[in-house]
Formats: sequence, structure tokens, C-alpha cells
Amino acid sequence: MKDSKNRRRFLKNVMLGALSVVSVPISLKSLPEKVSKNVNSENCPPLTLDAYGQGPFYTANAPNLQNGQLADVNELGQRIQISGQVFNLECSEIIPNTEIDIWHADDSGVYDNVGYNLRGKVFSNNQGIYTFETIKPGFYLNGSTYRPSHIHFKITPPGFSSLITQLYFAGDPYITSDFAASMNSGVYDATHRIIPLSLNSLGIWEGTWDIIIDGNGISLNTDYLHLDKGMIYNVSPNPFNEIIDIEYGVFMNSDVKLNVIDLSGNIIAELSDINQNMGKYSVSWKPESYIAPGVYFLTLKINDLQVHYIKIVKEI
Ligand SMILES: [Fe+2]
Repeated sequence: MKDSKNRRRFLKNVMLGALSVVSVPISLKSLPEKVSKNVNSENCPPLTLDAYGQGPFYTANAPNLQNGQLADVNELGQRIQISGQVFNLECSEIIPNTEIDIWHADDSGVYDNVGYNLRGKVFSNNQGIYTFETIKPGFYLNGSTYRPSHIHFKITPPGFSSLITQLYFAGDPYITSDFAASMNSGVYDATHRIIPLSLNSLGIWEGTWDIIIDGNGISLNTDYLHLDKGMIYNVSPNPFNEIIDIEYGVFMNSDVKLNVIDLSGNIIAELSDINQNMGKYSVSWKPESYIAPGVYFLTLKINDLQVHYIKIVKEI
């Protein structure tokens, strides 16, 4: 009886979003181990400046990205997805809400210096994780030589200074001849800003780039986390009024339950209770009017193991 009531409430309240848009960033499987111990400096390289600095093509006030998409679906070029986690300088804490301002050239190596195409901002979420999808930037001439494919970043942890740098891709034929990308020591060392890309089953090249930067972090208690199985990427807005959008990832084919519970542990809404393949999913919850304002928890269970939860706040 209760189940059927919940089911009706579920069907009434939930609007399923687009499914399996992108696959799971490969870095996430190693997160619990990473945040549960202090990583030594060898594995915790601070983010470095790029020798070319900001370059001539920065435009301020780029928009916040919608759904992590920097490149429109019609944008020409090879789709890539970059993901990572923002850490403090000791790698002992993660830094949520870090502003990551991104810009790069299009497939033919041209910047949009009039509008904001291939320009936008993402923010690390409350696990310090960020992700965005775009196209691999094209080469362009810098004097007589081509610059390697690169993405520009201006990264600003809350209350701290911005750091401006560039990201490159392993195997790029122009890295060794590039003034900035070839630097392998000193303050402009690009070694840890050259990342490999690997092709996933959806035809998207994925890369992982953790950002280690000066900022105020928070500890992430991993006792209740099994982030190798699945996780909630993002909830927005939070606090919310009418509707809250939820993005989560499933890292293996499994029975997935995504519930909203109150402070007493009562299930308020079932947002997912089905078998799902590995992938990234989105769902929206629009509570009925009798759901009181206050604190709730969004819980993700994979094969009945609670792998993650996030506090959400419904406002009046
Ligand atoms: Fe550039």
C-alpha cells in the first residue's frame, strides 16, 4: 500500500531528464582513496602558471555553462570531456565553488572575440568536482609555428586569487616546439598540464585534470561514500523553491535508487528505482505543495548500498 502510494507520488512528482548524455569521468573511481589520505607532494603537484599567461584572447564576463556544455552540439570538432577535482595545496581537502573560467579556439583554431562561443564558466560542486564537455581546440599559428591544441583557464577559489594557465593534450605534435607547453621545470612547468585523452564507448574523448591550488578547502568524510559505484554530481539550485535539478552517475549496470528523505529518514520521494546502465543521468524533482520547507537529503543507492548523499534545502 505504502509502496503504491509512493509510486504514485513518484510518477506525479518526477520529470525525467535527458539520459546518458555523457559517460562517467574516469577520475571519479579513484576519489575515495584520494580524499581519505594526505597525498605526498609527488602526487600532489600544485597547479602552475602557463608561460604565455592569459594570452590575447580572454574575454571577461563569460556566461555560466548550462549542463556543463561549453560547445554547442552543432560545433564542429572532436567532442572531449574534461573532469577533475579541486584540491587545496596539501591535497588534504577539496575546494567547492571554485570558479573555472574557460576559453579556447574552435576546430579551425579561431577564437570568438566578439561573442562568447567556446567561452564559459563552471564551478566545482560540493565534492570539489567539476566537469565540462567541449570540442578539442584546433591549432593556430604563433609566429612561424603552430601552437598545440590547448584550453585556457582562469581559476578562482572562493576568496583567493585567480590563477591563469593552459591545458594541453598528450601526443600533440606541437608540444615540443611550443615555448610554453615544452617547459618542464620551474614556475611555468607544464608537465602536469599535459593530459592523456581516452576514447569512451560514446565516442567522446575523456580527460582527467585535477586542480591543486591555494584556497580554503573542506574535509570530505568518506566513511559513507562509495564513490567507485556512483555519485551525485550536482544539484541546482540549492536551496530551491519550485524545482531542483539533479545529476548523478552510475558506474556499473546496477539497481539504482535515488530518494529524497527527511531528517527522520522517511522517504519523501522516489526519483529513481530502476536498473540503469553505466552513465550519467539527470532528473528533476518538483515537490508537491504539501512538502514543507526545510532540510532534506538526497540519497543514492547502488544495489541497496548507500553510496552518496547530499543535503538539499527547500525554501518557502
Ligand atoms: Fe590560445
